[in-house]
Amino acid sequence: MKVFETKNALTQALDSYRNGRTSIGFAPTMGALHAGHLSLVEQCRKENHIVVVSIFVNPTQFNDRSDLDNYPRTLEEDLKMLAAAGCDVVFTPSAEEMYPDGDDARVFDFGLLDKVMEGAFRPGHFNGVAQIVSRLFDVVQPYRAYFGEKDFQQLAIIRRMVAMMNYPVQIAGCPIVRETDGLAMSSRNALLASEQRKNAPVIARTLFACKEKTDVMPLDELKAWVVEQIDGTPGLRTEYFDVVDRHTLQTVAEYKKEALQGCIAVYAGAVRLIDNIRL
Ligand code: PAJ
Repeated sequence: MKVFETKNALTQALDSYRNGRTSIGFAPTMGALHAGHLSLVEQCRKENHIVVVSIFVNPTQFNDRSDLDNYPRTLEEDLKMLAAAGCDVVFTPSAEEMYPDGDDARVFDFGLLDKVMEGAFRPGHFNGVAQIVSRLFDVVQPYRAYFGEKDFQQLAIIRRMVAMMNYPVQIAGCPIVRETDGLAMSSRNALLASEQRKNAPVIARTLFACKEKTDVMPLDELKAWVVEQIDGTPGLRTEYFDVVDRHTLQTVAEYKKEALQGCIAVYAGAVRLIDNIRL
C-alpha cells in the first residue's frame, strides 16, 4: 500500500496504473474509519483493479466550527485498517493541498435536493461536500466511486453532481453497516459518552419499528410517534424526522406504494447522529 500527500505524487502514481483495462475504484472518507467505511473498501476491492481511499477532514463542509475541531482523527489506525482491507493507495492531503487558493467560491445548484433535511439544518454542508468530492474526482479520476447509504442525501447529491458535471464516474451506493445493537456506524459514535452510547440504539430501533407501522398508522401519527420515542429517551433530541420520496427527497403527503425513505437526525448531547430506513 502506498500513501501520498500531494496531488502531483498521486497523479503520477495513478497514471502508471491507468490503462485501458485498469479500473480505479475510489472511496472518499474523512477517516476515523470503522466497518462502515471498510464495507465500501471491500466492495471497491471486488469490483476494481486499483483501490484508492482518501482521508481528508474537509473544512468546507462543516457549518459548525466545534464539530470540525472535535472530529476524530486516527490516521495511524486508519492506515492499518486500510492495508488489511487490501487498499492499494491512500490519499491524505492537507487543507492547503486541496484548497491551494484558499476558499472555494463555487456554488452548486442542487435545486430542491439540498433544501431539505441535512441541507436545511446544515447550511452550506452539501456545497462543501460537492466542492471536495469534485476536487477529489479531478485528481483520482476514478472509474467507480463508492458512497454509503448512511448519508442518504449525500448519495443523492453526489449522483446529481456527477450528472450535472458530466463526470465519467459510476456511483455505487453501499448499504448501512450497523453495530450489533442496531446503531448505524459513524465516526461520531466515538464521541458519545457511555450513557449516550447506551441510549443511541433507540434511534435505529425506532426506525425499524416505524417500518412495521407504515400503512397501519396515519403518516402524521407515525412521524409524531417516532419523535416521541426518541425525545422520550434521556439525552436524545430529534432534530428532524421526515418521510420522503427516495429520489426527490421531498416530504410526501401520504404513503405511496413505493420509494419512501424515513430519514432522521438526532442530537445525543452535542453529538449529531443521522440514520435512515427504506419504508
Ligand atoms: P465519512 O463520514 O467519513 O464517510 C465516508 C463514506 O463512508 C460515506 O460515503 C459514508 O456514507 C460512508 N459510511 C459512513 N458510515 C457508514 C455506515 N455505517 N455504513 C455504510 N457506509 C457508511 O461522508 C463523508 O465522509 C464526507 O462527506 C466525504 C464524502 C468524504 C466528503 O468529504
